[in-house]
Amino acid sequence: MVPVATDQTGDVVLRLEQVEQVYGTGESVVHALKGVSLDVHRGEYIAIMGPSGSGKSTIMNVLGCLDVASGGVYRIDGVDVADLAENELAHVRNRKIGFVFQAFNLIPKMTAQANVELPLVYGGVGRAERHERAARALERVGLAQRADHIPQQLSGGQQQRVALARAVVTEPAIILADEPTGNLDSVATNDVLDLFDELAVGGRTIVMITHEDDVAERADRVLVLCDGRIVADRATGADMHRADRVRAAQAARAATPVDQPVADGGAQPPHGAHAARPQTTWLQTTPMPITAVSTVPVQETA
Ligand SMILES: Nc1ncnc2c1ncn2[C@@H]1O[C@H](COP(=O)(O)OP(=O)(O)OP(=O)(O)O)[C@@H](O)[C@H]1O
Ligand SMILES: [Mg+2]
Repeated sequence: MVPVATDQTGDVVLRLEQVEQVYGTGESVVHALKGVSLDVHRGEYIAIMGPSGSGKSTIMNVLGCLDVASGGVYRIDGVDVADLAENELAHVRNRKIGFVFQAFNLIPKMTAQANVELPLVYGGVGRAERHERAARALERVGLAQRADHIPQQLSGGQQQRVALARAVVTEPAIILADEPTGNLDSVATNDVLDLFDELAVGGRTIVMITHEDDVAERADRVLVLCDGRIVADRATGADMHRADRVRAAQAARAATPVDQPVADGGAQPPHGAHAARPQTTWLQTTPMPITAVSTVPVQETA
């Protein structure tokens, strides 16, 4: 079991204290993070911007426990990650955090359904429950009709929605996204950002890297990194109208035939289905516990 928060950090879920990251040695040394301090509060939606090479992905890798910082302290829910054993870190990565990447990172030979089930396979969830939860996650991103498709049969926007379903199928409290709209056109970008809005309204904590100003403006707070340091940190006010935007997006989705709207292209649904999109959203869900956690690697051909 991962130790739980003390009152030391209040509602701060992620805390970086003078975090440094140094890559390489000698002449090739790179100081990717030069003493970054940051508090992310529960339910906050943060965008991180900054020039290429400024340390955005480096900070994300530390936040996601994919990489260990070379200096400073990183706490999740008040717990110093340096005190966690490898199996506890794996537990945090699998249960507390959902990851979304620019390149989608779906497994090419697996269907959308199987891709979304994968974190549950690693979490030791039984077959029937896995199937049901993944199907529901796909329904929430409007892709129930595409469950049997493999990634190459899906457009970029659809693939990213599958990746988002995979990120949230374990009901993580924290979503980390590294340029999730970097490979998408503006319509698909908007679709994906609507889903992030739903997650934010549903209470998830979100940290998203982006190069695009209009994407960053959808977050509550924008941080700018430059040369391994935070050089700006401002509120956007986007949270004030988010619930209204979510309701409007849901109403629009409900009124639109499945797979019709998006310039998200792709093939037509396999059976020509054009029912209205399902209304299930993250607003209506409560986290479901994963009953058993396995840290034993599982074959990806489940
Ligand atoms: N594994 C590594 N080994 C050596 N240097 C690295 C490594 N990862 C990142 N760096 C260096 O650290 C710095 C920050 O890289 P990072 O990937 O965090 O930038 P970024 O802000 O995400 O850039 P981009 O917008 O291009 O994705 C860069 O100078 C990069 O070359
Ligand atoms: Mg990067």
